[in-house]
Amino acid sequence: MLTKELEQKLMNTAIEYRKRSYSPYSGYQVGAALLSADGEIFGGCNIESASFSPTNCAERTALFKAVSEGKKEFTAIAVVGGRANGELEFCTPCGVCRQALVEFCDPKTFVVYLGTGTEDYKGYLLEELLPFSFTPKNVL
Ligand code: THU
Repeated sequence: MLTKELEQKLMNTAIEYRKRSYSPYSGYQVGAALLSADGEIFGGCNIESASFSPTNCAERTALFKAVSEGKKEFTAIAVVGGRANGELEFCTPCGVCRQALVEFCDPKTFVVYLGTGTEDYKGYLLEELLPFSFTPKNVL
């Protein structure tokens, strides 16, 4: 369990990184903040492409930033999203991001914080969002 202060810091970091969203095609802005097991926070935003398929979600931006900095163990992620110039909506990670997370995060302990603000969020286990997941344990 994280302290409320740390949960709120994650939510706030996700909100801040959402401002960096590059999403001219969908107009949907997402921010994420990933906490490594050793206590560092990596922010990310969604980054779209004119040819669409290279688009990267905020969660994977944060994850790939962290892994490229040498991190491989993570505790939690906060995700916020909503239309540009609109209110934050309850935004849940897409299936690809859930699968990308389960590569590095223990589904039974890793927490995904979702909500619309630092006073309005809820934590879900990754296992709840991706039940019966196919993980590195299946292959290695
Ligand atoms: N998006 C994310 O960044 N994270 C999610 O989990 C849901 C979708 C982005 C991808 C795309 O840039 C925009 O939201 C609309 O799908």
